[in-house]
Amino acid sequence: MIVLDNVSKRYQHRDKTWFTAVEPLCLRVEAGEIFGLMGYSGAGKSTLLRLINLLERPDSGRVTVDGQDLTALNAADLRRSRQNIGMVFQQFNLLANRTVADNVAFPLTVAGWDKAARDKRVAECLDIVGLCDRANHYPAQLSGGQKQRVGIARALAPSPKVILADEPTSALDPATTRSVLACLADINHRFNVTIVIVTHEMSVIRRLCDRTALLHQGKLLETIVVKDNQIHAQSAIGQELVQED
Ligand SMILES: Nc1ncnc2c1ncn2[C@@H]1O[C@H](COP(=O)(O)OP(=O)(O)O)[C@@H](O)[C@H]1O
Ligand SMILES: [Mg+2]
Repeated sequence: MIVLDNVSKRYQHRDKTWFTAVEPLCLRVEAGEIFGLMGYSGAGKSTLLRLINLLERPDSGRVTVDGQDLTALNAADLRRSRQNIGMVFQQFNLLANRTVADNVAFPLTVAGWDKAARDKRVAECLDIVGLCDRANHYPAQLSGGQKQRVGIARALAPSPKVILADEPTSALDPATTRSVLACLADINHRFNVTIVIVTHEMSVIRRLCDRTALLHQGKLLETIVVKDNQIHAQSAIGQELVQED
């Protein structure tokens, strides 16, 4: 579903020196997988996630999603292809002055859906995340976990094949984290949506992921199969991360 071929990203600091956030790396995520990106703060996890939908354009290499080379598309085609890739954020990024229903409808409005089709799809998505009774509430009236489920419903609205989630539970308490992870697992299971999730929480990887990549200082150290809720890291950094948790 996702093929990263030799992608890298560097940033220029104010003093004009360059900093490599992601060294050239290759990664494949299979259709229907829940794939983790783990590593310490600053490892390049968010940058790598944003390379998948070209929110960051790679300095080298190729990004292919669902058979389409995104790096080769013009701006209009890229906008269209991005509807195949939903995104969920740590701080939810909801529009404060719009209702829950309008927040979920937002990507559909942008994509030009008519109101009847939009209303139907918004109702479906709110049902999937268990928030039908909150459609006319505003974000400020919701708990953190409810806000994140709105964020997930919004990501799901255009029926994407891929959802990218950047630390989606890092602002939530443990009980709420469980409900949000259950929601993501349910969506993966029911609709076969491929999920890539960035987290520094090993418990999130253990509970949710099929496989995970370990990033350190912009390098892909290893990819690890998560089996029976265990992360068997080979690298020293990986073992350190798993033990600290
Ligand atoms: N827009 C940017 N400009 C300059 N440096 C950046 C930018 N975004 C990220 N970085 C740097 O790249 C490195 C990796 O960042 P990030 O991908 O956010 O790591 P992580 O998500 O693993 O914490 C960090 O050192 C960060 O400071
Ligand atoms: Mg990050």
